[in-house]
Amino acid sequence: MRKKIVAGNWKMNNTIEEGIVLAGQINDLVEKAGINGVDVVIGTPFVHLTEVNKIVGDKIGVAAQNCADETSGAYTGEVSVSMIKSTGSKYVILGHSERREYYNETSEKLVKKVKLSLESGLTPIFCFGEVLEERQSEKHFDVVKGQIADGLFNLSAEDFGKVVLAYEPVWAIGTGVTASSDQAQEMHAFIRKTLIEKYGQEVADNTSILYGGSCKPSNAKELFANADVDGGLIGGASLQAEDFMGIISAF
Ligand code: 13P
Repeated sequence: MRKKIVAGNWKMNNTIEEGIVLAGQINDLVEKAGINGVDVVIGTPFVHLTEVNKIVGDKIGVAAQNCADETSGAYTGEVSVSMIKSTGSKYVILGHSERREYYNETSEKLVKKVKLSLESGLTPIFCFGEVLEERQSEKHFDVVKGQIADGLFNLSAEDFGKVVLAYEPVWAIGTGVTASSDQAQEMHAFIRKTLIEKYGQEVADNTSILYGGSCKPSNAKELFANADVDGGLIGGASLQAEDFMGIISAF
């Protein structure tokens, strides 16, 4: 059966010193709580990956927030999947709306990044979601289906089974406006139906679909109670250890 996952996305926040403190606090809280049945992931900037991996050991997975779409060579400023892997990290967040919007992250690039991540043994956390106008004009189901199909449906069923999905409606990211529990479940059920049509019931049942967008300790329980919401991708609330822990323990 699919995993329950709570993943933090620190985005471009925290110096190394601050990141070490925060990762230590999260690790202590997770250890003390003896969390069972929920995979906890911390997505840090590249420069934190090695240090954070040393702090969290095996208890918590560490994610990069992007990777290069080439393996190595003359690509100044880029970070390859093998470099990420060598820090001890197990995950890579791909296709975040901020990268799609500000850094021209196209589906063509994402196809390459997903392929390289899987080849290197990293688990992609693949993000997608509609903007407000698309929801208001009732195009949100088509947009989400298109993003998933364009980025992932070239994969074999076996490879697709290694990917974690994250539905992040752009209008809910960093706005304080979360999708309602019903809106989240409606979209997650639609995504699972889309996966059934493409890969069959078993693959769809085993795929974790996370919700992201203003998820907080106060709304996580209601969101995670939905049959097709398998956890969260958490931005702002992952920058405070107690808040992040509050979300982890919402299952
Ligand atoms: P917030 O939780 O700050 O809305 O961010 C969500 C997000 O973008 C996680 O990737």
